[in-house]
Amino acid sequence: MRFDKIEFTAAYGTSSQLPPPKEKEIVFSGRSNVGKSSLINKVFNRKNLARVSSVPGKTITVNFFKGDGVYFVDLPGYGYAKVSKAERDRWGRLMENYFQRAGLIDLGVLIVDARHKPTADDVTMREWFRGSGCPMVVVANKLDKLKRSEIEPNLALIRETLDLGPDDVLVPFSAEKGEGKDALITALAGHLKR
Ligand code: GTP
Ligand code: MG
Repeated sequence: MRFDKIEFTAAYGTSSQLPPPKEKEIVFSGRSNVGKSSLINKVFNRKNLARVSSVPGKTITVNFFKGDGVYFVDLPGYGYAKVSKAERDRWGRLMENYFQRAGLIDLGVLIVDARHKPTADDVTMREWFRGSGCPMVVVANKLDKLKRSEIEPNLALIRETLDLGPDDVLVPFSAEKGEGKDALITALAGHLKR
């Protein structure tokens, strides 16, 4: 599969708009501000394909990007406290509906912060992927913010907290520097072949 061909196709803000899947789907999920949109840009070598912001809560719609026979889906992040109840409810319904299309999602990419222990929401997301039988790749992003000596212990903590087994893929990554890009592309391509 090619990673040089990608275009934005649609953004959905309410759950009733979500279309049934037409092609394979890879979804990028994780805490707000963890770098989901940045990671998508890095993988496809594009600066502004997915919108990025230093302020959490940048992505508020479910955004579909069409690649080579597969859709890449950028989700609004979870765990961002400074939003109204109405907005949180909208988000909840949107996510519920998106993930109800379960079985139809070919791969979940769970992005966590390499600096920190995964949050309770990260664990919930991981459990959802496991429970639904959806294959999952975990990415530890913002690797550039770690000292070399912190990398191994942090990755071990992430593996332990998310209860990853030896066969579960954890990719250390930096959307800023591009570290881990080849490993991530290999993991994505490997899953799509199945
Ligand atoms: P929401 O859309 O709010 O859910 O956030 P997001 O997960 O899409 O995060 P986004 O890509 O918008 O990035 C958030 C901030 O983190 C931006 O200021 C990015 O430049 C920064 N960022 C993302 N990835 C990295 C990384 O690997 N290293 C560093 N140093 N900064 C990063
Ligand atoms: Mg985003």
